[in-house]
Amino acid sequence: MANVLITGGAGYIGSHTAVLLSQEGYDIYIIDNFINSEPSALRAVEKIISKCVQFSEVDLTNSEELDAVFSKNSFDAIIHFAGLKSVSESVGDPLKYYNNNISSTLNLLNSMCKYNITKLVFSSSATVYGKCETVPLAEDFPIGQTTNPYATSKFVQELILKDVALSNNLNIMALRYFNPVGAHTSGLLGEKPRGIPNNLCPYILQVLSGKLDRLNVFGDDYETADGSAIRDYIHVVDLAIGHLKAIEKLLCAESSVSYDAINLGRGVGVSVLEMIKSFESATGRKVPYKIAGRRQGDLPVSYAATDKASAELGFQAERSIEQACLDLWRYQEHLNKTGTSKEQSVREK
Ligand code: NAD
Ligand code: UD1
Repeated sequence: MANVLITGGAGYIGSHTAVLLSQEGYDIYIIDNFINSEPSALRAVEKIISKCVQFSEVDLTNSEELDAVFSKNSFDAIIHFAGLKSVSESVGDPLKYYNNNISSTLNLLNSMCKYNITKLVFSSSATVYGKCETVPLAEDFPIGQTTNPYATSKFVQELILKDVALSNNLNIMALRYFNPVGAHTSGLLGEKPRGIPNNLCPYILQVLSGKLDRLNVFGDDYETADGSAIRDYIHVVDLAIGHLKAIEKLLCAESSVSYDAINLGRGVGVSVLEMIKSFESATGRKVPYKIAGRRQGDLPVSYAATDKASAELGFQAERSIEQACLDLWRYQEHLNKTGTSKEQSVREK
């Protein structure tokens, strides 16, 4: 079976994808520097797959550390999740985002070319579409009207990847995720909160756990059925399946040179108030909330066109929002029980 390098594999989406690839028989090798994750995620992956994970603690901005991994291993394909992802942090410190995200990708591309690895799946985001007036958002819409440095870093990385794919004979697929939610059904793996969350579901979970008083619903005066904003929430296990399909496609690809971008969403819009109701029915608890003003930079409605994912990858998200809320709550209860104690070190290869 193929050997897949997963950068950022200790993170939220990377760890779920690592579980799935391993369960599907792939050999996986994770690198991460834990800038936004913890070794406990790798232990949870190992527990779920009942196997040790090959891992190196590597900062992708350090080209020598990265090259050392390539010099000692042979990879058939790479999934590149590693990157910083907070919109608000990127506005306060754009250089941190450009340095980390763009340098990491440049270093990875240099190592790929040096060691003749040609297949790469890249974590892009629906944020590259910026302020589009029409929904659903389709891959052939113009991109780059970004509104924050995080989004710009993704846009620029897509441009770089396309240029390098075409000139250096690589085969690259950028997957544009919509709003990832949910957790592994085991309750062992999910997104570990750091500080006060900015995103909707992590915030609701803190409210449900009694750590925050109430949710602020950012706007009830949008032109939507209930006035609250609409997003395309996709279960993280469905996202992992999307990556599996992308890797399968790249490994079978006849053409050695190509670049493509594909949306991963459900193609279904869900409002903030609908999300609150889903959490309430999944948990049997009330989510106290108050209506607050619109959040600056927010779009009223965003959801994916899914035809390309279906045609190119045979991918269709299957898990419901209710399932995502249930899984999120199961993981939250696991965290509430185990606490967020300081990490022990993990084995390094
Ligand atoms: P995450 O923060 O949980 O995971 C990213 C991982 O990359 C973390 O484990 C972090 O420690 C690691 N990392 C960051 N910089 C690194 C570096 N220089 N060297 C080594 N490791 C590094 O984020 P996630 O939610 O799993 O997102 C994965 C990818 O998907 C990111 O690139 C993100 O921008 C993108 N994405 C995420 C979302 C989302 O809402 N979660 C939406 C669209 C796109
Ligand atoms: C945000 C990022 C986007 C990123 C995505 C990852 C911004 C402007 N955009 O998108 O770049 O790719 O996360 O999932 O930050 N909401 C509330 N109350 C809250 C939090 C959110 O009402 O406390 C609303 C928001 O207004 C929005 C919806 O919930 O309508 C979803 O918000 P969020 O989870 O932050 O995702 P996005 O805004 O879609």
